[in-house]
Amino acid sequence: MRINPSILSADFGNMQSELGRVRAADMIHVDVMDSLFVPNLTFGLPVVENWRAVSETTFDVHLMIDDPDNWAPRYAEKSEMVTFHIESAKDPERTINKIREHGAKVGIAVKPNSPLEPYKELVHQLDQLLVMTVEPGFGGQKFMHEVLPKIRYARELINQDNPSCFLQVDGGINLETISLAAEAGADTFVAGSAVFGAENPELAINQLRLAASR
Ligand code: DX5
Ligand code: ZN
Repeated sequence: MRINPSILSADFGNMQSELGRVRAADMIHVDVMDSLFVPNLTFGLPVVENWRAVSETTFDVHLMIDDPDNWAPRYAEKSEMVTFHIESAKDPERTINKIREHGAKVGIAVKPNSPLEPYKELVHQLDQLLVMTVEPGFGGQKFMHEVLPKIRYARELINQDNPSCFLQVDGGINLETISLAAEAGADTFVAGSAVFGAENPELAINQLRLAASR
């Protein structure tokens, strides 16, 4: 069970110290938004590169942008995992290959209302499949229970075609909802407010991991 804290809920004015508070994490989840694919704007490549340079933990970049085909390979040079949204990719297979060529592991993400079925042939090529459990764009939203059947379906596809692929969930993950997502088959959990909003983020990470394992 892997816990990836989302730095969207961290204090951007103190990133070096914030990154130091989550050393218990498996990876740091880095939410890149361009104000086009989602109605919010966060940070871009130079910022991610600088943060990566002062982090002891590897980066799991989540691209919520309109043009992942163009940008994803560049993030792949600066981080260990790059996940892009299938809804905005024009040539997903090419982008998957490009990310790998540029040195990172690859994931695709699906929004809560996007079906998985049309993309099932891609699963064998992935290191991570991200099923969003909120509408992407903002931290601190409520977990969408209606996505649970899609998580179960994603687990079936992964077990069939690519058992080592991570099944990640992102949005509204806390000590209660993590059990539901884990029971449905998720093994990798993004948590923003539940980790950085906690007084002791290390403890929050360990508690989340324990709750997922039960
Ligand atoms: C939302 C982002 C998430 C967000 C999660 O679009 O992709 O990673 O930071 O935040 P919480 O855990 O607070 O829902
Ligand atoms: Zn995210």
